[in-house]
Amino acid sequence: MDPIRNPYAPGAGQRPPELAGRDGEIGQFDVTLERVAKGRPERSLVLSGLRGVGKTVLLNALRGQAVNRAWGTGKLEARAEQGLRLPMAQAVHAAIHDLGQRHRDPDRVARVTAVLKAFALRTSQPERRATRWIPPMDVAAATGRADSGDLELDLLELLSDVAELASDLGVGAAVFIDEMQDLSPTDLSALCGACHEISQQSAPLVIVGAGLPHLPVALAAAKSYAERLFHYRVVDRLSRAEADRALLVPAASEQVEIDEAALAELYRLTDGYPYFVQAFGKATWDGAPSSPIRLTDVVHAGPIAEGELAVGFFGSRFERATPAERAYMRAMADLSPVDGHGTVPTSEVALALGRRPQSLSPARDGLIKKGLIFAEERGVVRFTVPHFGSFLRSQRDGAESLGTLDE
Ligand SMILES: Nc1ncnc2c1ncn2[C@@H]1O[C@H](COP(=O)(O)OP(=O)(O)OP(=O)(O)O)[C@@H](O)[C@H]1O
Ligand SMILES: [Mg+2]
Repeated sequence: MDPIRNPYAPGAGQRPPELAGRDGEIGQFDVTLERVAKGRPERSLVLSGLRGVGKTVLLNALRGQAVNRAWGTGKLEARAEQGLRLPMAQAVHAAIHDLGQRHRDPDRVARVTAVLKAFALRTSQPERRATRWIPPMDVAAATGRADSGDLELDLLELLSDVAELASDLGVGAAVFIDEMQDLSPTDLSALCGACHEISQQSAPLVIVGAGLPHLPVALAAAKSYAERLFHYRVVDRLSRAEADRALLVPAASEQVEIDEAALAELYRLTDGYPYFVQAFGKATWDGAPSSPIRLTDVVHAGPIAEGELAVGFFGSRFERATPAERAYMRAMADLSPVDGHGTVPTSEVALALGRRPQSLSPARDGLIKKGLIFAEERGVVRFTVPHFGSFLRSQRDGAESLGTLDE
């Protein structure tokens, strides 16, 4: 069918044509926004889940809810090699900008902007040079507020000031942090500390984080009270009914139907993982001659979708790994349960590779840093990418390119 009218949207952070199965999170966040704006005690929110389950698009949808309520919002994506201070300054700057446009007292807005500038200027020179962000030019940096160099204290002062600015307007401020697991333990700890203090003051400020499944563990390790500070929601694959919705609603808006056998086969192939739902939906649409889409269309499109995923979803990630890390993942894939996404004991990986477990630590840690595997508990590892084990097993025949530990 006409590829121009194809509604499906496979791709990182691509807004799906139908955000299926997330009504719970959206409803809960509406309550959070309402409560926080009224000064009621409420926890911030942390979303966690595997790659491609829809954390980024959900985070963006939640931000949209805050924007609809005229909140001041900002967003940042954490990076392993970068500290929190400068990206946080950029995000808060966006929130101040939103609020400043409606605030009646320009002097007050300027004072908070000056605090933001002071906060940002505490970033080390090399880090500032590495980004394109320029601190606000229209005000001089404040002194004695948010500029101590102690991130927790400075965050507390900056975020309190922004929250106050928002409360003048009867709204709140929200900062959205994607890939939150990439923040260093010290940055996570500072952020938790500041949030803890702010929530005790009932200031209208919300932090919404999203990250890989081990994010809650990383937060708990950073501050013991992190467990009570956030609502934790696992973003997961879609049920059969939700996956059907994700496929049927966009098709219906183009007057296209999908028959039951096709839907059942699509669910078998995608396992309800949102990225796969979009990828298989897209390939099936392109190959189908007409409505309704039938089982044979799905069967024909399967290898095309798999080929695209092999390059775009799996391959691009695999290529980021060193030869030793690749060998580690191949051993994991061989040991994974058939569905390819269960946990694997690290001792068994070592046994399979004929190495001492300690000698494999660099490969394991490298893979964790690259966000390809995670360790929710000691002694086990798991792929962050759904179906990655099956993908690697299916590549085994072309194994020469996959690398060995001795390369
Ligand atoms: N609820 C949903 N219904 C249908 N499709 C969805 C849903 N959520 C996400 N998708 C689709 O899934 C794909 C992946 O979404 P997204 O990039 O948000 O995942 P992610 O969890 O952030 O992945 P990563 O961990 O790699 O950053 C996108 O193509 C998006 O359109
Ligand atoms: Mg994402």
